[in-house]
Amino acid sequence: MLESAALQESVNVGAAPALVSMHGVRFAYEATTPIIDGLTADVPVGSIVGVVGPSGCGKSTLLSLISGLEEPGEGTLTWEPDRGSPPRHPLTMMFQKDTLLPWLTVQDNIGLHFRYRRGSRADRAERKERVQHLIELAGLQGWERKYPYQLSGGMRRRAAFLTAVAPNPRMLLLDEPFSALDEPTRIGIHQDIFRIVKESGVTVVLITHDLGEAISLSDKVLVLSARPTTIVAEYDIPFGRERNMMELREHSDFLELYGTTWERLSEQIRRGAGGRSVR
Ligand SMILES: Nc1ncnc2c1ncn2[C@@H]1O[C@H](COP(=O)(O)OP(=O)(O)OP(=O)(O)O)[C@@H](O)[C@H]1O
Ligand SMILES: [Mg+2]
Repeated sequence: MLESAALQESVNVGAAPALVSMHGVRFAYEATTPIIDGLTADVPVGSIVGVVGPSGCGKSTLLSLISGLEEPGEGTLTWEPDRGSPPRHPLTMMFQKDTLLPWLTVQDNIGLHFRYRRGSRADRAERKERVQHLIELAGLQGWERKYPYQLSGGMRRRAAFLTAVAPNPRMLLLDEPFSALDEPTRIGIHQDIFRIVKESGVTVVLITHDLGEAISLSDKVLVLSARPTTIVAEYDIPFGRERNMMELREHSDFLELYGTTWERLSEQIRRGAGGRSVR
C-alpha cells in the first residue's frame, strides 16, 4: 500500500492465526432492518485491531457480537478454542464510562478479579506482584492506595484499563476508552497501554472515533461503512512493536496512512449523513 523502506519492515499480523473469525455476519435488532450486513474479518492472535466508522453504524454492536452478548442472524463468528492449560480468562471489556468501584482503592480495583479466586499462597503472591507490576507500567506507582475520586481523569482511565488487563484475558474489547480525554493526555496513555498490551500478548479490538488513535495503536485498521454496515477498507499498520507515539504522528508514513484512511472514512460519514453537510 505504501512504499517506503520503513513500511516494508512491518510485522505481518495477517500471518498470525485468527482468534476470532467473522464470515458474512448479518445482524439485526429488529427483524427487518439489519445493522450489520455481510461483515467478514479476522482478528489475528496478539494483534490490536482498530475499528472506525460513522457514528451509529454498529461499532458497539460488533463488540456485542464478538463477546457473545448478541448472536449473528446469518453468517458465522468463531473463536479459536483455548488449548492452554489452564485456559486463559476469555474476555474483558472497557467502555468510555468509568467502571471503577468508588469504595475500593486503585490496587483493589485492579486486583478485584482475583479477589474471589482460589489459589495457593504462591498464587496470591504472584497475583499481587502482577497488580503491582501493571501499576508501575501504567505510571500509577504512589497512587495504589488512593480512591478513584482522588485521581485525575487520565489516571482513572489508566486504572480502568488495568482492571481489564489484570485477569490476563485472551481478548480485550475497548469501546472508545479514551475519547473523553484531551489529546496530550490520550497520547501519553497510548504509549503505556501499547507497551502493556504487547507485553501481555492480549488480542485487542479497539473501537474509536479518533483515527490517529486507531492508526498509532493498531496492527490493522478496519473502516466500517454507513448502515447496513460492512467493511469498506482494511489497512495493515506497519509500525511494528516499538512505537514512539509522539514521534509517530509526525512521520510521513503516519500522515500518508491517515490521509488514505480518512478519505475512505469520510465517504462513509457523508453517506451515513444522507448527503447532508457534516461538521
Ligand atoms: N439494544 C438495542 N436494541 C435496538 N437497537 C439498538 C440496540 N443497541 C443499539 N441499537 C441501534 O443499533 C444501531 C447501532 O448502534 P451502535 O451502538 O452499535 O452504534 P455505534 O457505531 O457504536 O454508535 P456510536 O458511534 O454512537 O458509538 C443504532 O441505530 C442503535 O440505535
Ligand atoms: Mg458505540
